[in-house]
Amino acid sequence: ELSPIDKAKFVAAKRAVDFVEDGMKVGLGTGSTAAWMVRCLGERVREEGLRIKGVPTSARTAMLAREVGIDVISLDQARWLDVTIDGADEFDGEFNLIKGGGGALLQEKIVATASDRMIVITDASKEVETLGAFPLPVEVIPFGWQTSKALLEELLISLDVMGRETTLRMNGAVAYVTDEGNHILDLHLNRIGNARQLAMALNQIPGVVENGLFMDICDTVVIGYGDGRVETRD
Ligand code: A5P
Repeated sequence: ELSPIDKAKFVAAKRAVDFVEDGMKVGLGTGSTAAWMVRCLGERVREEGLRIKGVPTSARTAMLAREVGIDVISLDQARWLDVTIDGADEFDGEFNLIKGGGGALLQEKIVATASDRMIVITDASKEVETLGAFPLPVEVIPFGWQTSKALLEELLISLDVMGRETTLRMNGAVAYVTDEGNHILDLHLNRIGNARQLAMALNQIPGVVENGLFMDICDTVVIGYGDGRVETRD
């Protein structure tokens, strides 16, 4: 028996998988909601003989996809995808997102951007008026990360952002390392007034590889509820 939150994630994932058709190349997101989606997709592959190619957005997702019988290829092999289905940490009324709570934002953004359509699967708790209550992940290369962090903090002051605390994401006693060998700085901003401006400015800082703001990338949001209802918005 699933908890209401897991039920919500599961029903959203299950509905989103209905959008996948035979012959498609599908971007496979990362996180607990996306993991449900990968399992549901694997079920369709095994039971209906659905022929698809999956492009994972993390080592974790690649492993799960293979386990459930999905044919996994790299983004370079796929070049272009029909659809990507992924979770999010926050979404607003314009379907702009914060992602990267699970640390996979870099591959997730590249894969989603290479897709004709991005579908976000989520429970209702992640909908916000204004992005920023969830700490914004920024991926930085390890070389000189403290300098990148200082530059980042200067940028936040110049943009007059509300919260300005930046923390290095940890994995126990050591810095968290992404699949690409980088670190993550989490920006505690509370409220992001101008997400478009911030997203562009962050990526101008030397050492910053990518940030977790997904602007104009998501096309459809599938929201699951604990009682099993599902709502699709696009
Ligand atoms: C992974 O890097 C993230 O972008 C996830 O998509 C996000 O953290 C959502 O994860 P859950 O589905 O586990 O909440």
